[in-house]
Amino acid sequence: MANFDFTKRDSFGSKMGIIAAAAGSAIGLGNIWRFPYIAGENGGGAFLLVYLFFIVVIGVPVMLSEFVIGRSAQRNPLGALKNLAPKTYWFLVGFLGIAAAFFILAFYTTVAGWTLEYLYLAVTNGFQGMGADQMSSMFEQFRTSGMRPLIWQAIFMFFTAFIVYRGIKNGIEKYTKILMPALLLIIIVLCIRAITLPGGGEGLVFLFKPDFSKLTANGVMQALGQSFFSLSIGMGALITYGSYISKKDNLGITAISVTAADLVIAILAGIAIFPAVFAFGIQPEAGPGLVFITLPMIFQQMTGGYFFSLIFFLLLSIAALTSTISLLEVVVAYMSEELNVNRKKSTIIGAVSIAVLGVFCTLSQGPLPGLRIGERNLFDLLDFSSANIMLPLGGLLIVIFAGWFMGVDKVFDELSNGGKLNARYKHAFLFIIRFIAPIGIALVFLNGIGILNFFSGGDL
Ligand code: PFF
Repeated sequence: MANFDFTKRDSFGSKMGIIAAAAGSAIGLGNIWRFPYIAGENGGGAFLLVYLFFIVVIGVPVMLSEFVIGRSAQRNPLGALKNLAPKTYWFLVGFLGIAAAFFILAFYTTVAGWTLEYLYLAVTNGFQGMGADQMSSMFEQFRTSGMRPLIWQAIFMFFTAFIVYRGIKNGIEKYTKILMPALLLIIIVLCIRAITLPGGGEGLVFLFKPDFSKLTANGVMQALGQSFFSLSIGMGALITYGSYISKKDNLGITAISVTAADLVIAILAGIAIFPAVFAFGIQPEAGPGLVFITLPMIFQQMTGGYFFSLIFFLLLSIAALTSTISLLEVVVAYMSEELNVNRKKSTIIGAVSIAVLGVFCTLSQGPLPGLRIGERNLFDLLDFSSANIMLPLGGLLIVIFAGWFMGVDKVFDELSNGGKLNARYKHAFLFIIRFIAPIGIALVFLNGIGILNFFSGGDL
């Protein structure tokens, strides 16, 4: 088969398209499912402040480094590193990103499948009349049941593959440009509903009033880990999307816009959730079940609950979908450019092989209890090892590469579009990616592999 023709490489068609796609990757279950419960477990406002600090000081620079690497090389993550550092082992960093995308997608589609089940339940009024116990046993029963979650997971993977199959401009860009504004609209409606609930003000106090006595070292580390997961850092997604950004676009502004959008949605998710939690007298530390157990219960007790639960689970599904497409694209870009499999075949092979691993993730929740190492089943294992090991390690190596090995000229060239932009921040950026970010990330990483022990891992 002929080699991949790089002159025919697809790209984003507009600035808005890039931002929609990259923000779509960043904004996902991490913002709406993971952020509120982790913030809830770690004291709300104080956690938010630390999170904000990490997003600005580490998140933006790492994201920008990924964009720089991707756009400079115009390749998939492995090809990009091979291209920028020929005859070295740096390509392994690209490989790590692709592997992380593969693993994350396997367990992420399990949860994404749950969002479809809950969307279906919302449509068919399936939460009606259920109390806390029933809601929680329904979730447990569904999650561990095998067949139903598998069907939803397969449907979700199909939607993901359908969009990726169509390419960048006509697939990813086209759909994220519709889905992201819809997502914003839904979350704003939910926020308005939440803050107008009697007694909801306490939820806002919880989210915004920093109480540092509730923040532990563990919470600080979780904030850093969450910022990585939420920004889609360290798994090749942003290198891949960066490689489709036009040479005329301003990478710095793109990274800041995407990060700001991600942060705003996480905060809005908090505003949509905590006032409701407080208004109905529920503890905010409900954990991972917050979205699948606590919220449906709250919704069906409030006026207009049918409508609000419906749009909430629609929101969750959309958020998940715009993230899964970015992960599948990582694998597809790699297969089509490095293995010379055409895009359509790559999409099918990629989606099917990830789905096979995904099936085992879903089954490890219940029907196949033997799929575990120690106390973690396959799902937890992939969740834990990607968030705590692969992403920090990938992010760390990426900033080290961009800061120390890629060449300052090349990096500055990308930031300034070959001298056409001012990019006055470039020296500060270089300082951060050389020193601050690697040290910060190294701390989370050492924590993740258990050399430091601030917090224990992501069980669900
Ligand atoms: N950032 C996504 C979220 O917050 O849900 C998750 C994710 C997407 C992680 C894409 C990694 C990735 F490459």
